[in-house]
Amino acid sequence: METVELAELIKGRRSIRVWQEKPVLEELLVQAIELATWAPNGANRQNWYFYIILNKDTIAAIADASQAGRSYMASWPEMAQGGLAPSSSTSPVSSPPPARRPGALGSAPALIAVGTSQIENPMDKVYLAREKVDERAGQMLRWSNTVNPRIQSVAAAISYLLLVLHQMGLGAVWMTGPLPQAKGDIEKILGTPPEMDIIALIPVGYPAESPTRERRPVSEVCEVVK
Ligand SMILES: Cc1cc2nc3c(=O)[nH]c(=O)nc-3n(C[C@H](O)[C@H](O)[C@H](O)COP(=O)(O)O)c2cc1C
Repeated sequence: METVELAELIKGRRSIRVWQEKPVLEELLVQAIELATWAPNGANRQNWYFYIILNKDTIAAIADASQAGRSYMASWPEMAQGGLAPSSSTSPVSSPPPARRPGALGSAPALIAVGTSQIENPMDKVYLAREKVDERAGQMLRWSNTVNPRIQSVAAAISYLLLVLHQMGLGAVWMTGPLPQAKGDIEKILGTPPEMDIIALIPVGYPAESPTRERRPVSEVCEVVK
């Protein structure tokens, strides 16, 4: 493959949030996930796990859990103060809630929930034990948390996955937004084991939109260190 073809593939992928009715074949998703597992990952631990969800009721239940999490937060005054929700003065209790169109999650023909198992980093144990007597060990522990190879590894696989899905003519969007509010409920729906964390949701379907998005020029995000 020429670099120009690879560039076309990479630059042609966009996050897709509107879908055709057309169903997505399970086999295609399995093939895409298999390719995604060739992503680089910390110590080749391959600490990822993918749940393919094609059952409309299960997708709807996950979307409902996400919506319930958002609704729960909507009444918090802190949301209005942060400009994230209408304050009670502009949204009288008596007015009915606006009708919501099902979002990218609820309307997707397929969903991939990406999990990662909790892995123990033996070095973290060392830093933790040592930090009581050595300040630098505490700093190392904080840096270790920032570097977080567990999440970086799964993110690498998700990037591959999105690219393969795009190459297959499918559209997808990488979502973390619903998880802070609904992670536990979603894990319950999926029946994940206790050591598994769901860290991303990827609705998938045949695209019914062709959005364009720009990138900052590389000169703004890159420098040559001399
Ligand atoms: C870690 C991560 C989390 C994201 N979470 C969401 C999300 O919760 N909802 C959403 O609609 N898009 C989400 N996105 C998609 C981004 O909004 C999108 O990638 C970005 O705007 C660039 O657009 P593009 O993917 O079309 O190039 C997420 C992307 C990443 C990498």
